Amino acid sequence: CNYMVEKSRKDIIDTLTEGLSKLEYRGYDSTGICVDGDADGTSLIIKNPGKVSQLKEKINSTLNFEQYNPEYINHVGIAHTRWATHGEPSVANAHPQRSDLNGEFVVVHNGIITNYRELKTLLLNKGFKFESDTDTECIAKLFKLFYDTNLENGIELDFNALTKEVLSELDGAYGLLCRSSHYPGEVICTRKGSPLLIGVKSEKNLKVDFVDVEFVDDESADDQVTLNETKINNPHKPVVDEEKVYFAPISNNSTNLRYSQSRAFLSEDGIPIPIEFFISSDASSVIKHTKKVLFLEDNDVAHIYDGELHIHRFKPRQDGDKITRPIQTLELELAQIMKGDYNHFMQKEIFEQPESTLNTMRGRLDFQNKSVKLGGLTNWLPTIKRARRLLMIACGTSYHSCLAVRQMFEELSEIPVSIELASDFLDRKAPVFRDDVCIFVSQSGETADSMQALKFCLERGALTIGIVNTVGSSISRSTHCGVHINAGPEIGVASTKAYTSQYIALAMLALSLSDDKLSSLKKRQDIISNLQRIPGQIKEILQLEPQIKAICKRLQGEQSLLLLGRGYQYACALEGALKIKEISYMHSEGILAGELKHGVLALVDENLPIIALGTRDSLFPKVVSSIEQVIARKGKPIVICNKDDEYWLSKKKVNSEIELIEVPGTSDCLQGLLNIIPLQLMSYWLAVNQGFDVDFPRNLAKSVTVE
Ligand code: G6P
Repeated sequence: CNYMVEKSRKDIIDTLTEGLSKLEYRGYDSTGICVDGDADGTSLIIKNPGKVSQLKEKINSTLNFEQYNPEYINHVGIAHTRWATHGEPSVANAHPQRSDLNGEFVVVHNGIITNYRELKTLLLNKGFKFESDTDTECIAKLFKLFYDTNLENGIELDFNALTKEVLSELDGAYGLLCRSSHYPGEVICTRKGSPLLIGVKSEKNLKVDFVDVEFVDDESADDQVTLNETKINNPHKPVVDEEKVYFAPISNNSTNLRYSQSRAFLSEDGIPIPIEFFISSDASSVIKHTKKVLFLEDNDVAHIYDGELHIHRFKPRQDGDKITRPIQTLELELAQIMKGDYNHFMQKEIFEQPESTLNTMRGRLDFQNKSVKLGGLTNWLPTIKRARRLLMIACGTSYHSCLAVRQMFEELSEIPVSIELASDFLDRKAPVFRDDVCIFVSQSGETADSMQALKFCLERGALTIGIVNTVGSSISRSTHCGVHINAGPEIGVASTKAYTSQYIALAMLALSLSDDKLSSLKKRQDIISNLQRIPGQIKEILQLEPQIKAICKRLQGEQSLLLLGRGYQYACALEGALKIKEISYMHSEGILAGELKHGVLALVDENLPIIALGTRDSLFPKVVSSIEQVIARKGKPIVICNKDDEYWLSKKKVNSEIELIEVPGTSDCLQGLLNIIPLQLMSYWLAVNQGFDVDFPRNLAKSVTVE
């Protein structure tokens, strides 16, 4: 939205489509935009199934900017990239969705409205005609229904009040925006369960560091301010420590810091400030324009008009509700979300791992004194150490990182550990107690299943820890304490660098939990020294790319692939298999080597490709025996083994069909950090060789904000 800033229609559409390309990794089966139409109070909607590049083509063939490119001083445009939940990808099902043919209310929405069938029946009975199969269309039509009904009763609601009426009908999850011809130049954005942030940009120095929340029960709210000036000793000012933003106690007479609404938006010489707002579910699409962002909380309704930003609450005020939304400065650099010289984000992210793993450890591991300090956990460590059990809860790759460190936690902390897939944990409504410590691991910090599980644990009084990559995400804000993994933005749908950084962050947590245990001193020191070597060792393994490319050429055309591992390496087998199926669409399965003889062996013959994780640890003899079982059935395994391992070298001498991928050695519990690298490369090349779009695998989304 721009206010007192001149923008042409083309500028606005370029901003929207560029923003969408940055968001495309979150969903990419259809796209659409809505800007002001040619006649006053009308909406121009252009939608398309497929990717943003196709939408751009459609826009360029629909609108001739050279002939007609109107200028706007105040304007609101909205856009969306979709990952289908209700309704197949099609023009009709793409967002924006509208209330009627004139587009009186136009909505874009992430999430799922769970009661949409009931709503649709109600709206059909009221005479509404539906154009799509989406749940979102109900929202647009509800806006119109409530608007018209109020008007019939002589009530002209403002956009915020109208939105609250609509929200009271919605069950489910949403991050949504609505613009309307009845409220020109205004936009509503609101969230429940799906992320939303607002970037603020002005050529003038805003001198603002937070926005007040206007509560329903705050009678004078309408006369109060929205934006506040920064003050030294401001009682609201967030106290920022390394990991988290905490809020200082809020003084009751904070109103003396408030200014009238208009004042807050005037420059020093009394002239309204030109200002732009960028609303998005992800900072990556905003960063090009501004680094100043504020994150909305669930049940916030942000209403933007005349260059003002008001944050209202949909729910009545509750104890513990934060009364401001701090405007934070993002650390993110544009270059971090660009591909640079790489062909794909996934390739870039695989090759970034020497650096990203180092960033996870930076400032936290003292290699000289062999100690760990996790700033975001310091005050909580004594409580965590007293936990009756540790529950690690996550989805997808993040779940595998939990599995990879389970044994390390058990060995070092001696606290019982359970690992849970968030969806299954919720399905079972598993018992959780006040003296449990629940660790939520998530790259995005927005995965709906993990977030729901977090709410479940919070309700039961457990202490919650977030191990998250995305700063400001829902999980990082809702947990009691946490560690940001600092891997930098991950765009490729198949997670790579987040996995290795989660692994390291969790390893550091396990080390912190045992920092007073003499019995594990030697092991801890060994792990810390070896962690220091990991970035360099990853670099070394990345040099194996030509060998891995050659293996992938040979594997082309195969239908299926097994990955064998046990003990510490089981998680690696699962994660390797997930990477391969996600992007190369080849059926691949991670098998616990000990289970081979209980069924999977029936699949083994001279044709089935098998990758075995045969690096050295206490289970090595058992792994060898599983691989021997494969060889005895004419299988030709590709073995990931330690560099110059005599056993495997001599094996290869007598059986030239065995292929070895040699990786450096490290502590048994860290070996998975290295063994996963060739598998990431392998999945990448298996997909590229088949011409698949590695960064946008079919049917998947990076951030699954629906249950
Ligand atoms: C999706 C992504 C996976 C990711 C999983 C969990 O399925 O495609 O790459 O591992 O979600 O996401 P999170 O952001 O919670 O780690």
